[in-house]
Amino acid sequence: MIKIEHLYKDYSKDIKVLKDISFTFEDGKTYAIIGSSGGGKSTLIRCLNMLEVPSEGTITLDGVVVNDPKTDLTRVREKMGMVFQNFNLFAHMDAKKNVAYALMKVKHMSKEDAYAKAKEMLEKVGMGHRTDSFPHQLSGGEKQRVAIARALAMEPEILLCDEPTSALDPEMTTEVLKVLKGLSHTGLTMIVVTHEMAFAKEVADYILYMDQGQILECSTPDVFFTHAKSERARQFVSNML
Ligand SMILES: Nc1ncnc2c1ncn2[C@@H]1O[C@H](COP(=O)(O)OP(=O)(O)O)[C@@H](O)[C@H]1O
Ligand SMILES: [Mg+2]
Repeated sequence: MIKIEHLYKDYSKDIKVLKDISFTFEDGKTYAIIGSSGGGKSTLIRCLNMLEVPSEGTITLDGVVVNDPKTDLTRVREKMGMVFQNFNLFAHMDAKKNVAYALMKVKHMSKEDAYAKAKEMLEKVGMGHRTDSFPHQLSGGEKQRVAIARALAMEPEILLCDEPTSALDPEMTTEVLKVLKGLSHTGLTMIVVTHEMAFAKEVADYILYMDQGQILECSTPDVFFTHAKSERARQFVSNML
């Protein structure tokens, strides 16, 4: 599990984003983080794997304090896959190399094993027929599926997704959400920042509603979408639906 205690993140004296967040993400559950733009959703998710360094507080993963300067971040990041809004694929590598690269560099797999695993992972996300394509030859939805395969190939315990479908048109959004839905009951812990309310409702075990740097609510979709506690959350939901 990932435990966050009294987490603060300031980008500067004037830009204070996360304000005393404490929360525990349980193993194997799917969390949808929702809330208005600027509320700190990306900052929170990026703090989890130290793409942003928290200003105060602790993040503990399997008993290891992630933001302790003595912690080996490579080991931590091996446990956490990340999928970004803009895919972040390596432009000069084809799909299979995008997936195989970290297997060779970080997991020290042989080239043969890494490419075999890459093929297997690409098949899993329905991209088995495009293993030789470069990012510029793929649609947004296809790129995102390669990015998901790349994250999964590392066999993470946790998959962090920051608006994985925000750059996609509706058809591609559907194909990517289908892949994520398929992963939600595999034992993987998923933390997905999303504006897709139908997905959040259907797939998430818990909805986290973030506003102005705090988690205002955490409830099951049933409860959240019918009787959210705060007026702000109810307003947000009604604007989104
Ligand atoms: N690298 C940064 N430097 C300074 N301010 C930032 C940086 N990243 C985000 N912010 C600011 O932090 C606030 C929260 O941003 P963000 O975490 O991206 O929110 P969300 O993902 O919910 O839209 C915003 O006001 C944003 O402008
Ligand atoms: Mg964001």
